[in-house]
Amino acid sequence: MLSALWKTDLIKSKYFVTGLDNSKKTASIAGMCGIIAYVGKEKATPYLLDGLQRLEYRGYDSSGIAVLSDEGVIDLQKCAGRLQNLRQQIGEQAVAGSCGISHTRWATHGEATDNNAHPHFDQSEKLVLVHNGVIENYQKLRDDLESKGHQFRSQTDSEVLSHLIGVFYDSADGGSSEERLVAAVRESLKQVSGTYGIAVMHVDAPDFLVGARLGSPLIVGLGKGENFLASDVSAVVAHTTDAIYLNDYDLVCLKGDEFKVERIDGGVADFQVSQVEFSAEAAELGDYPHYMLKEIFEQAESVENAFRGRLSDEEASAKLGGLQMSPQELRDVDRIVLVGCGTACHAAMAGEHLIEALARIPTEVEIASEFRYRNVPMDKNTLVFVISQSGETIDSLGALREAKRKGFRVLGLVNAVGSTIARESDGGAYMHCGPEIGVAATKSFTSQFTLLTLLALLLGRMRDMSVSDGQEIIKELRALPDKIREVLKQSDRIKEIALKYIDAPGMLYLGRQFNYSTALEGALKMKEISYIFASGHASAELKHGVIALVSEELPSVFVAPKDSVFKKNLSSIEEVKARKGPVIAITTEGNDELDRLADDVIYVPETIECLNPILSVIPLQLLSYHFSVARGCDVDKPRNLAKSVTVE
Ligand code: AGP
Ligand code: GLU
Repeated sequence: MLSALWKTDLIKSKYFVTGLDNSKKTASIAGMCGIIAYVGKEKATPYLLDGLQRLEYRGYDSSGIAVLSDEGVIDLQKCAGRLQNLRQQIGEQAVAGSCGISHTRWATHGEATDNNAHPHFDQSEKLVLVHNGVIENYQKLRDDLESKGHQFRSQTDSEVLSHLIGVFYDSADGGSSEERLVAAVRESLKQVSGTYGIAVMHVDAPDFLVGARLGSPLIVGLGKGENFLASDVSAVVAHTTDAIYLNDYDLVCLKGDEFKVERIDGGVADFQVSQVEFSAEAAELGDYPHYMLKEIFEQAESVENAFRGRLSDEEASAKLGGLQMSPQELRDVDRIVLVGCGTACHAAMAGEHLIEALARIPTEVEIASEFRYRNVPMDKNTLVFVISQSGETIDSLGALREAKRKGFRVLGLVNAVGSTIARESDGGAYMHCGPEIGVAATKSFTSQFTLLTLLALLLGRMRDMSVSDGQEIIKELRALPDKIREVLKQSDRIKEIALKYIDAPGMLYLGRQFNYSTALEGALKMKEISYIFASGHASAELKHGVIALVSEELPSVFVAPKDSVFKKNLSSIEEVKARKGPVIAITTEGNDELDRLADDVIYVPETIECLNPILSVIPLQLLSYHFSVARGCDVDKPRNLAKSVTVE
């Protein structure tokens, strides 16, 4: 259950301060595969296409839409590729009908083809379904159904679910069509193992939708005379601000002017209607060519939003009331485990350094997908933090549940308000960085880093950190936004550097201590949006193998601020130069020691050692951005990826 303060945070701050306008509050969004369904009085198609547009960042392998026409026929349109293809296919021919379901896919089972696109019919073609998640026992179910004469039109795991519901619907006796449909959904979900967020519609039950979730996000949008089902609130906020965040095992029935939430097994559901305030502009591009660039440029504000109201000059400490822990409980913590995936895991690695250096508490980082299946020994004073921008990453959620199952207190560092991880954790802190839509995480990393600094400061000041050290950290945190602006001014110069190395076969990223994780993060950015191989390493590891890769063609990016390990980094740079490897270095303004050595130097303003990564990661984000644009890649929607991974 949510603890009180965390919940207050959730409801009151109902959604957080956007990067650019502090007077506005907005919800964040997350995703993998997008579902949007509509029932009301208007024509469904424009609502569905608009919703899909807003959800497209969640998955973009194919899209599809099914509308029940006023004549009682299901019009199903779907095709592979971007939403634009579907729009063209539908053209001016949108069928009149005020109830429909739609989907944008991130393929797990079966290629990105027209046939594999959702929605999927059942055998009778009277029922359609969209599904997010994975049906793990689909092969057995499919074999059984095929042996009974069912013909499948796709290779997806999802299609078994539409057939199965159709079978239970046809064999149900008694009751209205709506009751039979609900009963059939319940029965079918008993047969499947795996994860799902679904929306189902049947020709016999016009203007009626059924939804259910287990493991995949699904929300209900409550409008006036119209209701919605969607994977996240971004798809419905243009029409309503009343939303229900469904819990696992919830089932919802929707009509235009009625809704009913129950448990899948028929039990009573515990739900509440939340007020969502969502700034539509916060999720729009404005003058930026890409979301990623916009989000990189929002970091001065988003970092500030992460620490705003959370610094105490009086105590030279941080205030994180949402953790829901008394000072004594915080003092009793003798071990911390930080869990996350991808970029969140890199932030966790930075957090490990921060907490150990500032608070002297042994801290470990666990990749969420590994943690959930390991039997990690932990004692009762261990505190677990799950770090997630989306709050929906299934591996991180699995880790959270595993840690809770074992009786540990699990806190969340989350951006998406109302997300599953935020709801299921025992407390935590929101990042308040506004919607992050580009698939590459940028501002969420610097916000996560900022929160982890606050945490380390808070825990440190309860132990042996001095007042003056606490004050120094606070002063430097407050100075960061202006320093970030200084770094951002160098975007054009970084673009020139990117163009110089545009044909590089790959890239090495090196850093040490606080900047080891920065190097890993820089490499991840380059790989995911530019499709060139890049790998991050602790600088001194070069000589243990990686240096074999160094050549005149392969650039090395060194994160080497003027800090306590600068001289060590310098030696590593010398080693690369001795082998004719090109070097791009990120260092501190005023440090000219790299001018003679590195091929290109990018300067960031001076700050304390532990905060440098917030400044140094930005040139790496910009480098990968300009690389990606110059190489003609799809920056915001890189191939094979989706914004957040809600399948295992
Ligand atoms: C980073 O650029 C990625 N797109 C990815 O690694 C991401 O950080 C990861 O999937 C975790 O997502 P989350 O923060 O939403 O849990
Ligand atoms: N597993 C389903 C498929 O591959 C659903 C994927 C999704 O969530 O988009 O079609």
